[in-house]
Amino acid sequence: MNDTLRIVRFLARCGAASRRDAADLVRAGRVTINGVVCADLSAQVDPARDVVLFDGKPLTLAPRDVTLMLNKPREVLVSRGDMRGRRTVYDLLPEEHRELASRLAYVGRLDFDTEGLLLLTTDGELVNRLTHPSHEVEKEYRVRASRELTVEEAQQFQEGVEIEGRKTQACQLTRLDRDGRPAYAVVLREGRNRQVRRMFEALGVRVLNLKRVRIGKLTLGGLQAGQWKELGPEDFRRLFGTDSKRSQRGPRGKKR
Ligand code: URA
Repeated sequence: MNDTLRIVRFLARCGAASRRDAADLVRAGRVTINGVVCADLSAQVDPARDVVLFDGKPLTLAPRDVTLMLNKPREVLVSRGDMRGRRTVYDLLPEEHRELASRLAYVGRLDFDTEGLLLLTTDGELVNRLTHPSHEVEKEYRVRASRELTVEEAQQFQEGVEIEGRKTQACQLTRLDRDGRPAYAVVLREGRNRQVRRMFEALGVRVLNLKRVRIGKLTLGGLQAGQWKELGPEDFRRLFGTDSKRSQRGPRGKKR
């Protein structure tokens, strides 16, 4: 069976225009399919066989977007390269995704010493949606701290502490008592540089261990340190929550 696409979707996937603008291009008679002007917004294109021209220029489908999640181990850099030769997340890419390395961007960093959930994607719109403060996607961290916070400090932490002259947004802090050593779950809706560590430091507490365990409703699941997984439709629904309209849509607002 051939994979056909509606003409407007095809134009959007080629990067010719957004889907809305693509409809206008078709209505304006600027698009031809196999030499015939396309006037029908529901026309189907078979990318493998049909020749589509926009203003006389041939269009080809952009390669499909890929989004990967990694359980980043400690002592791995989230960076394209390192002057000191330390391992980066790109060094950990599985064989089948190596050729994507130059197109894959990471979505929000994790420090060298932080482990846990990291997303890498070829989809610039997804990066924007997950990192722009206005979208307020939750990120949850597990923290092992050098000492317990007092009740007042915990209150202050949740209401916001000052880092670099600016107060952090309200966040959730939950005490997790594991083997009697102070451990916390922290849920943030913003992503400032080294934010969790600096919030604890602002109260005179050191973070001994830090792990990101969730973005939106997407969790690490059974992914072990150093393992990768390609996100599927269900993972995207989790990423954006199941209770919003957006959850029914993929990163480009497409129905999945
Ligand atoms: N906050 C930090 O301090 N470090 C991270 O890697 C992520 C969030």
